[in-house]
Amino acid sequence: MENKDFSVLPAHVGVIMDGNGRWAKNRGLPRSKGHIEGAKTFRKIGEYAGNLGIRHISFYAFSTENWSRPQEEVEAIMALFGDYLHEAVDRLDENIEKGIRLRFLGDRNGLSEELIELIDFVEEKTRDMDKVNLNIAVNYGGQQEILHSVKNIAKDVKAGLIKPEDITLDTIQRGLYTLEQPPVDLVIRPSGEQRLSNFLLWQSAYAEFWSSDVLWPDFTEKDFDEALRAFEKRNRRFGGV
Ligand code: FPP
Repeated sequence: MENKDFSVLPAHVGVIMDGNGRWAKNRGLPRSKGHIEGAKTFRKIGEYAGNLGIRHISFYAFSTENWSRPQEEVEAIMALFGDYLHEAVDRLDENIEKGIRLRFLGDRNGLSEELIELIDFVEEKTRDMDKVNLNIAVNYGGQQEILHSVKNIAKDVKAGLIKPEDITLDTIQRGLYTLEQPPVDLVIRPSGEQRLSNFLLWQSAYAEFWSSDVLWPDFTEKDFDEALRAFEKRNRRFGGV
C-alpha cells in the first residue's frame, strides 16, 4: 500500500469520468477513442485508489440519460464495459488476492444478456472481498435509484411487511444499489463542470465536491492526490456548527 501520509481519507469517493468527448475532439479523433482512453484512466485510478487504502470508490460510466447519444457511441461504451468485465473474469484470482469486490450500480434492464451474465458472475465471485469496493455505475440515475427503493418499500407496505410510520431514512438507504456502503465523502469531477448530473444523489448528500479542468483521459494519480489533499483540508460540519 502506498503511504502518502493523508491525515484523513474519504471512506467513499465518487468519480464522474467527464471530458472524454472533448479530449477526442481536441485531437480530431472520434468520441469513442476518448472513451477508450477514459477506460484506461478508470483502471489506473481504480487501482491507485485501492493502493492508497480507499475502501469504496464509485465510477460513473453511463447514465440513464446517455442512451440518447449516437448509437455508435453507446455501443462503444458498452463494449468497453464488457471488455473490463471480461478482464475481471480473467483476473479473478488476482482481484480476489487483492480483496477487490466489484459491484454494478444501475438498472440491469436495458443491458445486454451478455453483460448481465458477466456482472452477475463477477459480483458473485467477489462478494466476500472487503478491502476495496469498486462500483461501476452503468445505466445509472440517482433519482431512478431512489424511485426503485421507494417502489420496493411500497410493495412491502402493501404486503403488510412494514408500516408506513416505520419507514426511516435507513429503510430507503437499504433499498439503494449501494446497500450497506458508506455515504460518499468526496465527489471528483474533472473537465471543468460543476454538476452532480444525477450521480449518487442520496449518497452524496454531505459530500465535498472537487472539480478540475483536466479532461478525464488526462487525469493522473497526481490529480487524484490533489483532490484528496483538498478533502483533507475541508472542515466538514454535517449541518452542525
Ligand atoms: C463522459 O464524457 C463520459 C462518458 C459518458 C463515458 C465514460 C465511459 C468510460 C470512461 C469508459 C467505459 C467504462 C468502463 C467501466 C470501462 P463525455 O463523453 O460526456 O465528454 P464530453 O463532455 O467532453 O463530451
